[in-house]
Amino acid sequence: MSMILAIESSCDEMSVAILKDKRELLCNVVASQIDTHRLYGGVVPEIASRMHVECVSTVLKTALNEAHVDMNDIDAIAVTKGPGLVGSLHVGMQAAKTLALAYHKPLIGVHHIAGHIYANELVEDIIYPCLCLVVSGGHSELVYMKDEFCFEVIGETLDDAIGEAYDKVGRVLHLPYPGGPVIDKMAKEGKHNYQLPLPLDDDSYNFSFSGLKSAVINLCHNATQRGEEIVGEDLACSFQEVALEVLINKTLKAAKDYQVKEILVAGGVSANSGLREKLTRKSDIKVLFPPMKYCTDNAAMIASCGRIMYEKKLFSTLDLSVKPSYDLEEEGVK
Ligand code: KG4
Ligand code: ZN
Repeated sequence: MSMILAIESSCDEMSVAILKDKRELLCNVVASQIDTHRLYGGVVPEIASRMHVECVSTVLKTALNEAHVDMNDIDAIAVTKGPGLVGSLHVGMQAAKTLALAYHKPLIGVHHIAGHIYANELVEDIIYPCLCLVVSGGHSELVYMKDEFCFEVIGETLDDAIGEAYDKVGRVLHLPYPGGPVIDKMAKEGKHNYQLPLPLDDDSYNFSFSGLKSAVINLCHNATQRGEEIVGEDLACSFQEVALEVLINKTLKAAKDYQVKEILVAGGVSANSGLREKLTRKSDIKVLFPPMKYCTDNAAMIASCGRIMYEKKLFSTLDLSVKPSYDLEEEGVK
């Protein structure tokens, strides 16, 4: 039995969730700043941390009200420790430490990506060994998990993350930030009519998306110079097809090589409808995707991971500090 209060503030969302036992989610309040950052075409770190300071108390109070619990009912405080924006992480961390100190609760520092991975466990038990495809705004990784809370990064991006490539392509197509969900929608209306290079199509488990991103940017610039019009839907479709092909091929190859029992997908790009449809269709083992509402940043996923760490008694002391750069392999049970 456990009741975990979790705080996530690594980027532009301030979120507080309360999770009872494994998957009875009593609340998951998310205060998004996306409308503000959209005005600048991307997340402005200083604005993000300032806005977090303004809303953290309200989000916390709303969460406790929605869940109909008070701090005495809580067993532990979980908080995103990193990776993320330093100022943003600090706001959540200070709130978590204050609660832990004032109410004498254990403190748990959660790796943001471990949180994304364990969003899947809010729906059903993960079966090990498994392979996790982590695809977000800051990460593109293949993680082998031989058992619960054991992370081995077997492949990663050598340059841009997949979500970052989506957002940059969105910018060159003059789409609102973040570009990912918009490109996903447009791709459904378009045809694969533009020739783009298949990025790092080799035998490794690593990814590279900057060449693909640059190819899209060059194609747009050349078209502008020649006075030609770009068919946005077709370019979105061509970009998505090529990006997904390499993600899916490498995931299926790694799943086979490591003989895993299932594949998990995690991170903001796991919301992508093309990825969901194609990977599920092409895989002959089970593929788990988090429910749409837990794909992008939220505290429910931090609570889910925090619950496992609570059971393993992986507590931190009050001198816990944020880790803006934080390797997943530093985390977990060896
Ligand atoms: O996990 P997340 O919320 O933040 C990070 O930890 O990075 O991921 C945000 C990323 C953004 O790059 C956004 O464009 C992308 O996820 N994203 C998508 C979709 N929904 C969100 N990318 C492609 N298709 C989508 N449907
Ligand atoms: Zn994230």
